Amino acid sequence: MSFSAENRRIADRIVAQYPQSESAVLPLLHLAQSQDGWLSPDGMREVAEILGLEPAQVFSVASFYTMYLREPAGKKIISVCNNISCMLQGSDELLERIEHRLGSKCGHSTSGGEVYLEEVECLAACGGAPCLQVDGEYFENVTIEAADSIVDSAMRGERPEGGKGLPSDFYSEPLGAPSIPEGLGANEGEGS
Ligand code: FES
Repeated sequence: MSFSAENRRIADRIVAQYPQSESAVLPLLHLAQSQDGWLSPDGMREVAEILGLEPAQVFSVASFYTMYLREPAGKKIISVCNNISCMLQGSDELLERIEHRLGSKCGHSTSGGEVYLEEVECLAACGGAPCLQVDGEYFENVTIEAADSIVDSAMRGERPEGGKGLPSDFYSEPLGAPSIPEGLGANEGEGS
């Protein structure tokens, strides 16, 4: 991998934003990954060269964060939370089931490159444990049956049903006027 001319210009602009160039390692790794769909050893070496770091320094950063893929990934990415709430709610069984359904192990892509499966730390949706993401979209309280359906949709290249919205869909709106218990409203209860 070599940065395209355009991405090399972007990389230079990113580096220029930091007083110390090595601080740009995370965004440059994102840039390399967005170009190739994964972080190849050559890509990490190029990032190291641009930043004047040892390749081992960049490799160690890339291996710390789960969002960096160090092997070619499938077209869709299923990320299963393995942290405490999800584990207590059966994430191990869920992961096994998904591996079985996909016919490939965690940390790998299916043979046709349809889906890449990974385990991740807490996805910050502990109240909906066990949970997983497909391309960043949340699926909570995932049962074995729901996992089968999610996997089948992902293998077909479709967006599975039952998710909580892609990041671009996120929004919030009032559910209606708040109800205030009698006696607690403004000025209520004051002597008249
Ligand atoms: S433990 Fe799974 S979302 Fe927090």
